[in-house]
Amino acid sequence: MAKMWAGVTAGITDSLADELNSSLRFDKRLYEQDIKGSLAHAAMLAARGIISPDECDKISSGLAGILEDLKSGALQFDMSCEDIHMFVEQVLTERIGEAGKKLHTARSRNDQVALDMRLYLMDEEKEITELVKAVIAALADQAEQHKESIMPGYTHLQRAQPVSFAHQLLAYAMMLLRDIGRLSDCRQRTNVSPIGSCALAGTTYDTDRRYEAALLGFDEISLNSIDGVSDRDFCLELLSALAILMMHLSRLSEELVLWSSWEFRFIKLSDDFTTGSSIMPQKKNPDMAELIRGKTGRVYGDLMALLTTLKGLPLAYNKDMQEDKEAVFDAVDTVKLCLKVAAPMIASMTALPENMKKAAQEGFINATDLADYLVKKGLPFRSAYKISGQIVAKCIEQGKVLETVSLGEYKGFCDLFEEDVYNDIDLMNCMEKRISEGGTSVASVEKQIEFVRAAIE
Ligand code: ARG
Repeated sequence: MAKMWAGVTAGITDSLADELNSSLRFDKRLYEQDIKGSLAHAAMLAARGIISPDECDKISSGLAGILEDLKSGALQFDMSCEDIHMFVEQVLTERIGEAGKKLHTARSRNDQVALDMRLYLMDEEKEITELVKAVIAALADQAEQHKESIMPGYTHLQRAQPVSFAHQLLAYAMMLLRDIGRLSDCRQRTNVSPIGSCALAGTTYDTDRRYEAALLGFDEISLNSIDGVSDRDFCLELLSALAILMMHLSRLSEELVLWSSWEFRFIKLSDDFTTGSSIMPQKKNPDMAELIRGKTGRVYGDLMALLTTLKGLPLAYNKDMQEDKEAVFDAVDTVKLCLKVAAPMIASMTALPENMKKAAQEGFINATDLADYLVKKGLPFRSAYKISGQIVAKCIEQGKVLETVSLGEYKGFCDLFEEDVYNDIDLMNCMEKRISEGGTSVASVEKQIEFVRAAIE
């Protein structure tokens, strides 16, 4: 069948060319945005007297009918159409006749597709933000339960200093709060209407771009029509925000995988979010955490793909830009699914504070506090650091921990040691002494929980 754009050519193309060219199989998901855009366009055309009120009514009720029928399934996508814009216009014209052919006045698919993507992403950005909030809430709830659960905090994956499990989880909540900030930032630049840029140069019709933008809920319009149709920064910004968000989920997932291993046993993931092995009966695999970690790669890939697609494009619209959709849709779908799984996976995991504490006791993570003790008694930090190191070395040799070294032995290293050293190296005390803002003490963690909860309200 001849294409709708038949004119200078007969509009008949090779079937393989059609396969390469057609975007309907993925841009059909934009049908609501496309119809919403067309409704506003018709209203603007009528308001400016470019089409008659009667034509506008026909177009509007025709579009409303198409929307309803697509939603109910009464209308199927005709895959021989080139894209969603052509499909909607074709059905409209079939249904209402001549008036349908007027809808595309003072518009091009170039500004239309840019509009559709912006409308789509404004909604998705909101939805993703809500999903991120749910993960933050799950982290805050777990943190609430574990303000006093001591675990070793790590650097270089070596046991370093005691922190609460809550403190560690809240570090992830802070990351995710920044992700929400990035999403809202990027939403601000998505919130710009390109419609009315037309093919690239604007139009000779007496349109009202601001009126149309306002009908669609945009706060701004693009101020250069060439930029209006060729800008995909808003897609790139979203993809980068999503890539960073996935990186955060991936780091958290990596910890969940480690913590649920037999080597750590800090947490137990609920059966709902683990799988068994087909051969090893003892296995409980953290597949969901692994997949979130793994899928991070594809979201990075989506960002790289679109950056690469755009880098060589001359102004203004080029068909290469059709490639924005699959990258954006894939990233949006992937991130949403991962967030939807992450929230209940975190909420349903069981922390094992006894094991955390054991690891904390075995790791000499109070060695800094031992040195600080000597500093308090008047020794310079460097000397105190050295003596503490010697004591730790001795403990390792003798299979002891700092808590089981006798006062006599301590005095053998330095006569400044007194009975009160045991108080200073008590793990709970070590944690509780870290009262600096953002530190791991219970009071500080409580403040963090409060902050995080307020931020997602
Ligand atoms: N399907 C196209 C896309 O996604 C719509 C814009 C087509 N414009 C054009 N002049 N061929 O980018």
